[in-house]
Amino acid sequence: MPDDRTLNLAIKALKAGELIGLPTETVYGLAGDAGNADAVARIYALKGRPAFNPLIAHVSSKEMADEIGQFNELANALAEAFWPGPLTLVVPSETGSTVTELARAGLDTQAIRFPDHPIAQTIISGFDAPIVAPSANLSGQISPTRASHVRESFGEALDIIIDGGASVLGLESTVIACLEDEATLLRSGTLPVEEIADIIGPLRRSETDNEAPRSPGMLSRHYAPDASLRLNVTSPSADEMFLGFGPASLNAALNLSDTGDLTEAAANLYHYLRTLDKTAAKIAVAPIPDIGLGLAINDRLRRAALSK
Ligand code: TXA
Ligand code: MG
Repeated sequence: MPDDRTLNLAIKALKAGELIGLPTETVYGLAGDAGNADAVARIYALKGRPAFNPLIAHVSSKEMADEIGQFNELANALAEAFWPGPLTLVVPSETGSTVTELARAGLDTQAIRFPDHPIAQTIISGFDAPIVAPSANLSGQISPTRASHVRESFGEALDIIIDGGASVLGLESTVIACLEDEATLLRSGTLPVEEIADIIGPLRRSETDNEAPRSPGMLSRHYAPDASLRLNVTSPSADEMFLGFGPASLNAALNLSDTGDLTEAAANLYHYLRTLDKTAAKIAVAPIPDIGLGLAINDRLRRAALSK
């Protein structure tokens, strides 16, 4: 945990409209004051993110969330069960919300997350207002799970990158829209849909990517290395670096989890992709079971494997 002085500097920087690199339990964020249109505009510009792709407002309490979003019964049940944690809820924006319209990309809905990370919580509650924090990577590229990843992308632009060590979960939050009487999965993520269904019953799923215009960041190639990616590979060719999974992956350059543990694989995924991308032009990835966290891992891998 960084010392109080460092955390206070980060809070001051946010108040001054500056951006900071912020650790969370999922991935690192590029954080700024959600109520400051200049700061929000700089986030879009730095990431090269299209202005139609809205940002998540991060809060440090349910009360703070209630000031910017309207929670129906479903949304409240999910917040109660999983916050703080790797779940983002998309709800109707509250009238009088301090979040700038730019952060919502002009939509009348608001994505909100209450991260389960001591540093993120201390900074947001010290700042005393929501902060927007998209993953701290260039748009379309691999998300960051280490302070060094953020430095590689934004070291020149950011004065403050808080080092919280490796992100424990390593994959983004699950995004669920609670807009009428239905909950819809907009992005699979670290919180498995099975656990969500245990609380509110089966989720509506967007049948195709195009049916999820409410999560425009998820439509296409994303999380992508420069190297080409081939999936579900059991015998890699000689010119491929092999990213393995489980004990069956012999000769893997790196193994997401020697024992076949999906939680461990999720935590390693982005760091290993970044590592292999530095030396390889072609990466082959072992099959990952499509259950639990494997669903989110495979979602990321499929998008990363789309051609440029
Ligand atoms: O784990 C996470 O969620 C990380 C950490 C830093 O909190 N943040 C993150 O933010 O992944 P970002 O901006 O990389 O992804 C946010 C996703 C995008 O797919 C975006 O389209 C969607 O959430 N989103 C944001 N606001 C939305 C809204 N109002 N309606 C639908 N989708 C929304
Ligand atoms: Mg992202």
